Amino acid sequence: MNLNPPPRRAATTLATLLAAATVHPGLAQPAAEDLPALKDAFQPHFRVGVALNEAQFTGRDARGAQLAARHFNSITPENVMKWASLQPAPGKFDFAAADRFVEFGERHGMFIVGHTLVWHSQTPAWVFQDEAGAPASREVLLERMRHHITNVVTRYRGRVHAWDVVNEALNEDGSLRPSPWLRLIGEDYLARAFTFAHEADPQAELYYNDYSLENAPKREGAIRLVRKLQAAGVPIHGLGTQQHVKLDWPTLAQVDATLAAFGRLGIKVMVTELDVDVLPQRTRNRGADVGFRLAADPALNPYTNGLPTDVQQALSTRYAELFRLYRKHAAVLDRVTFWGVTDRDTWLNNWPMAGRTAHPLLFDRAGQPKPAFFAILGTDPGPERTSPRAAVSAP
Ligand code: GLA
Repeated sequence: MNLNPPPRRAATTLATLLAAATVHPGLAQPAAEDLPALKDAFQPHFRVGVALNEAQFTGRDARGAQLAARHFNSITPENVMKWASLQPAPGKFDFAAADRFVEFGERHGMFIVGHTLVWHSQTPAWVFQDEAGAPASREVLLERMRHHITNVVTRYRGRVHAWDVVNEALNEDGSLRPSPWLRLIGEDYLARAFTFAHEADPQAELYYNDYSLENAPKREGAIRLVRKLQAAGVPIHGLGTQQHVKLDWPTLAQVDATLAAFGRLGIKVMVTELDVDVLPQRTRNRGADVGFRLAADPALNPYTNGLPTDVQQALSTRYAELFRLYRKHAAVLDRVTFWGVTDRDTWLNNWPMAGRTAHPLLFDRAGQPKPAFFAILGTDPGPERTSPRAAVSAP
């Protein structure tokens, strides 16, 4: 397979495909190797990343692995580097799957992101308890955190290029979430986590990552948090907004304002977990709180046999508008990562309700590009652009 088609052919193919996809969205089914690669299309602007599951990076899902290799130049592990996977029991590390993930990224010359060192979810209960099952002391938990971060980051020193060090530390109002990390250690758990990671690999880029940062109170909370860490000399190099978005939330103005505000922090900005949920939800602005669940309800799962044309069109338009904004902010935006390769694998098939047929990504269940794939390739931000990469250094 030709991974890097010559530019002239790519340009012709893109123009032809875009025309076909615009006129006959349902008919455009080009061969995989004729598709322009997303990573090439956006190469002048930002990296295009994807979250991988184990079937994909081990090649068991050959189609998923092939799509990942062809279209993306950065990868994040969907689950295998979370605490529960890496250290399920005290001192018992299991790096088998994470090693395969890193090897996949190296084989394809990708920018490898580790996800995630400190989070309140997918972290075993023992981490926060003493032998009697009572809450662990500050000293014990800090030592467990240091031990975990040091072991994990040291193992992949020089191979994993960046880490989501702390994930989802904020409440919706911008205050610190009362996670066991905060309650048992205190506010300095964030600074300590970044410092431990930096000591283990001084070259690795270290990020803070969260969802719903487009809502003003939480966005302001993230900005306060980053400024505080910067003022204290803590090594923080990037801020990731997950962007598990919907068709009608957040507004483009919210996304625009968020990328602009984050761009002024002088660190890298990333969209880290992009997907666009088109299914109905009864509640608004739930962001991506993994603790939020809904009971099974067929009314919330209307597209089990595929997306109606109007919804497919709305998804394309939404993606095109988002990518227009990303290109506008390309000077500060380092990477846009999709949370999954195809609709078959997305976590939204099981959140916030089990058994959904979700359609949030660019590739359908068969791995075919959807109209949204072509829509983002046709985007141009127009004359209004932020200034060229200034304060942000290239990796
Ligand atoms: C959050 C986490 C991700 C993932 C998603 C849902 O956004 O950061 O690791 O768990 O929830 O899959």
